Amino acid sequence: MKEFWSRRIVDAVPYVPGEQPKGQTFVKLNTNECPYPPSPKVVEAITRAAGETLRLYPDPECLELRCAIARREGLSPDQVFCSNGSDEVLAFAFQAFFDPDKEIVFPQITYSFYPVYTNYFGLTCRQVPMNPDFSTPVEELMGKNGGVVLCNPNAPTGQGVSREVVEKLLRANPDVVVIVDEAYVDFGGESSVGLIDRYPNLLVIQTASKSRALAGLRVGWAMGNPNLIQGLCCVRDSINSYTVDRLAQAGAKAAVEDEDYFTQTCQKVMATRERTAQRLREMGYTVLPSQANFLFVSHPDKSGKALLDGLRERGVLVRWWSNPAISNWLRISIGTDAEMDTLLGALQEL
Ligand SMILES: Cc1ncc(COP(=O)(O)O)c(C=O)c1O
Repeated sequence: MKEFWSRRIVDAVPYVPGEQPKGQTFVKLNTNECPYPPSPKVVEAITRAAGETLRLYPDPECLELRCAIARREGLSPDQVFCSNGSDEVLAFAFQAFFDPDKEIVFPQITYSFYPVYTNYFGLTCRQVPMNPDFSTPVEELMGKNGGVVLCNPNAPTGQGVSREVVEKLLRANPDVVVIVDEAYVDFGGESSVGLIDRYPNLLVIQTASKSRALAGLRVGWAMGNPNLIQGLCCVRDSINSYTVDRLAQAGAKAAVEDEDYFTQTCQKVMATRERTAQRLREMGYTVLPSQANFLFVSHPDKSGKALLDGLRERGVLVRWWSNPAISNWLRISIGTDAEMDTLLGALQEL
């Protein structure tokens, strides 16, 4: 089966993405996509970019997009790096800032790509057990280590930590890079971007996939000290200089600049999240407080797998992991109000 494979990929344990169903129409609440379309300005910008210039390579530096992000965040463009989705930014960051002989640390229940990258890039890690209430054991991420990865707000639990706590973490780990993955920060979390000028070891990573409804466009970015940004460029230019195509650069720039549409989208998602959480609690579910575009949910009597299968039979896709620590929990993405009503109806039946 694995004939001709390199040792690296023979030993790889790849990430398993959530199902993207083909054919049958599901209410799709399994990959934390935005239920609303991207800003109309994004589509206009992509249409404008889809012309004769496609014969030319895109700007490898993504300068216009970086300038737009920098303007929004009060940074300078040399503090911003863009790439093909934040997964790729994370992959570059693991390669740029971590060494095999220095154990990196991250929480045990967090984004499941972190252990995949750790293994694939030949790194070592210590995964710190969660607090009993599933909050992030930040104190345990301090002390001697080769780097820290903090998903804030955390996935799949949805709980975040304050900027003050991140600052403590940065002060306690001054000699290593602290990556803060803010994929979900726009749904009620507290961003650490404001700490970048004071902490040269902080790398904040964000994405256009969630709050800007552009999962299909594949754009993510990192923000940090220019020295860290140069490190990421060094990895990128050792693999593929043109990671963000012309259409993606144009579309993402328009999305970052359409602040009103972005705010409205986030507010709608958060309102639906709170309404759904309340209904689920009334139905007897345990629902963790969420600062993200999903809920982490369990039922006292029904197993997570039984709920997953029962929902699928009723046309609703959600996410479940076999990891025993969370096998009684489901992660449910926030859809439109109508989609969440379908979910609640299906759960009522179950
Ligand atoms: C915590 C976290 N970080 C990063 C990503 C990657 O997002 P993308 O590659 O679409 O930017 C995801 C996607 O679900 C995520 O949940």
